[in-house]
Amino acid sequence: MSSSSSSCCTLLIGLLCVVLLGGSLSHGQLSPTFYDTTCPNVSNIVRGIIEEALTTDARIGASLIRLHFHDCFVNGCDGSILLNNSATIESEKEAPPNNNSVRGFGVVDDIKTALETACPATVSCADILAVAAEESVSLAGGPSWNVSLGRRDSTTANRTAAGIFLPGPTQPLDVIITMFSTMGLDTTDLVALSGAHTFGRAQCSTFINRLYDFNSSGNPDPSLNTTYLPTLQGICPQNGDLTVVTNLDLTTPDVFDNKYFSNLQVLEGLLNSDQILFSTTENNDTVALVNNFTANQTAFFDTFVVSMIKMGNISPLTGTAGEIRLNCGKVNDNSTESDGLLYSSM
Ligand code: HEM
Ligand SMILES: *[C@@H]1O[C@H](CO)[C@@H](O)[C@H](O)[C@H]1NC(C)=O
Ligand SMILES: *[C@@H]1O[C@H](CO)[C@@H](O)[C@H](O)[C@H]1NC(C)=O
Ligand SMILES: *[C@@H]1O[C@H](CO)[C@@H](O)[C@H](O)[C@H]1NC(C)=O
Ligand SMILES: *[C@@H]1O[C@H](CO)[C@@H](O)[C@H](O)[C@H]1NC(C)=O
Ligand SMILES: *[C@@H]1O[C@H](CO)[C@@H](O)[C@H](O)[C@H]1NC(C)=O
Ligand SMILES: *[C@@H]1O[C@H](CO)[C@@H](O)[C@H](O)[C@H]1NC(C)=O
Ligand SMILES: *[C@@H]1O[C@H](CO)[C@@H](O)[C@H](O)[C@H]1NC(C)=O
Ligand SMILES: *[C@@H]1O[C@H](CO)[C@@H](O)[C@H](O)[C@H]1NC(C)=O
Ligand SMILES: *[C@@H]1O[C@H](CO)[C@@H](O)[C@H](O)[C@H]1NC(C)=O
Ligand SMILES: *[C@@H]1O[C@H](CO)[C@@H](O)[C@H](O)[C@H]1NC(C)=O
Ligand SMILES: *[C@@H]1O[C@H](CO)[C@@H](O)[C@H](O)[C@H]1NC(C)=O
Repeated sequence: MSSSSSSCCTLLIGLLCVVLLGGSLSHGQLSPTFYDTTCPNVSNIVRGIIEEALTTDARIGASLIRLHFHDCFVNGCDGSILLNNSATIESEKEAPPNNNSVRGFGVVDDIKTALETACPATVSCADILAVAAEESVSLAGGPSWNVSLGRRDSTTANRTAAGIFLPGPTQPLDVIITMFSTMGLDTTDLVALSGAHTFGRAQCSTFINRLYDFNSSGNPDPSLNTTYLPTLQGICPQNGDLTVVTNLDLTTPDVFDNKYFSNLQVLEGLLNSDQILFSTTENNDTVALVNNFTANQTAFFDTFVVSMIKMGNISPLTGTAGEIRLNCGKVNDNSTESDGLLYSSM
């Protein structure tokens, strides 16, 4: 990339490079109006595809917001999670937190196809994930918001980083707080964003450690409700199929509401990383936030929106960095680049 941009800087094209870079510096920030002239219907198009997908897959909205989260925590919100294996890419899809777990790629591809028809080579895959996250929340009964846009797509992925920076369900609260803090997200953001577990599913592999022999105690997790325990043991028997899924929110599984937080109050969080937000003895900031969001769904929604915008702002590529991928699963072919002012084969 840098070699092709330096080779493109012959006198005339070099001048163009300078103009483009100067232009990008003046609007390096994301903006809700980024596509207002170039693709004004972007959110409706995304919403339409998700609505259709929801008719056969009630879980798809949850899967899509999770993709945005797992994109943003690895080298910023740059669409890197969507890249498949290739000669130059070691796909993040196969990192331990993602492998056989993240889903929704077919719907992302359907959205991209619709957008390439409506506004060719304009909307990045990273922005598709950000808009899809918002529309998924909104379609499930949660808040709507104006998504900040203008991200560009990476030409690289980093599977190792995905293994390091994505939190796991058995990690202690102080570790998870630190991981969010590394991304510029505070404890309020952590609790609010964890509220995304108000919809979607999790596999037995992610919580079975709580059901039979928690922390080598020979007993279940004491912070798991004794009425809920046999239900979960029935879903995830010892030596059973660890890929079986169950609802993250047993109360309203497909609705985006604040029931996730009231579940925690009655010890009915599914993952250890959920329940410790309430059952911790070390951090009562998270306990107070859980209580607040249980008592006041508006407070949850308002805080969630602020935190989603913060998460969506993690290290985006803007201006002329990266590219607008034409196919979210692969880097553009540099010899046929149509977004190629800077990167055209010179
Ligand atoms: C706080 C740290 C977090 C941990 C440890 C965590 C962990 C997990 C795990 C283990 C699963 C189940 C995956 C599987 O069984 O395949 C899951 C699912 C999910 N996560 Fe998280 N998560 C966290 C934060 C977040 C955040 C910040 C969001 C979004 C803002 C999010 C959204 C989701 C959604 C919607 C699902 C369900 C996905 C589906 O049904 O396909 N999670 N998470
Ligand atoms: C915007 O997209 C929606 C969903 O695809 C479609 O129904 C609507 O007609 C579009 N509006 C315009 C102005 O193109
Ligand atoms: C991802 O999962 C697949 C299927 O279980 C497995 O074949 C593959 O080795 C895994 N990838 C990595 C990098 O572990
Ligand atoms: C989005 O922005 C528009 C104007 O830019 C404003 O009218 C609208 O209320 C905003 N919507 C939300 C949900 O904040
Ligand atoms: C991938 O991420 C790891 C962990 O942050 C880092 O050490 C490594 O340098 C990165 N690899 C590349 C090619 O950037
Ligand atoms: C697990 O057990 C160890 C040793 O008994 C204890 O120090 C630790 O606090 C326990 N962790 C949890 C999460 O209960
Ligand atoms: C366990 O769950 C039931 C049903 O939701 C609830 O009535 C009970 O209070 C819960 N127990 C604890 C200790 O929270
Ligand atoms: C938080 O913990 C501190 C010290 O343990 C205690 O003084 C305070 O009352 C607690 N606050 C809440 C809201 O539980
Ligand atoms: C709920 O939270 C909102 C802030 O999001 C606040 O304006 C409102 O006063 C709160 N309601 C109550 C009953 O505390
Ligand atoms: C609850 O959250 C709202 C919105 O963030 C905030 O205004 C209010 O002060 C909080 N209340 C408590 C008791 O933490
Ligand atoms: C990338 O892999 C996904 C499955 O994870 C597949 O649906 C998609 O067609 C692939 N895209 C490309 C460009 O190979
Ligand atoms: C395209 O990029 C590859 C490396 O990614 C490079 O080897 C090749 O020379 C480039 N082709 C052109 C036409 O720039």
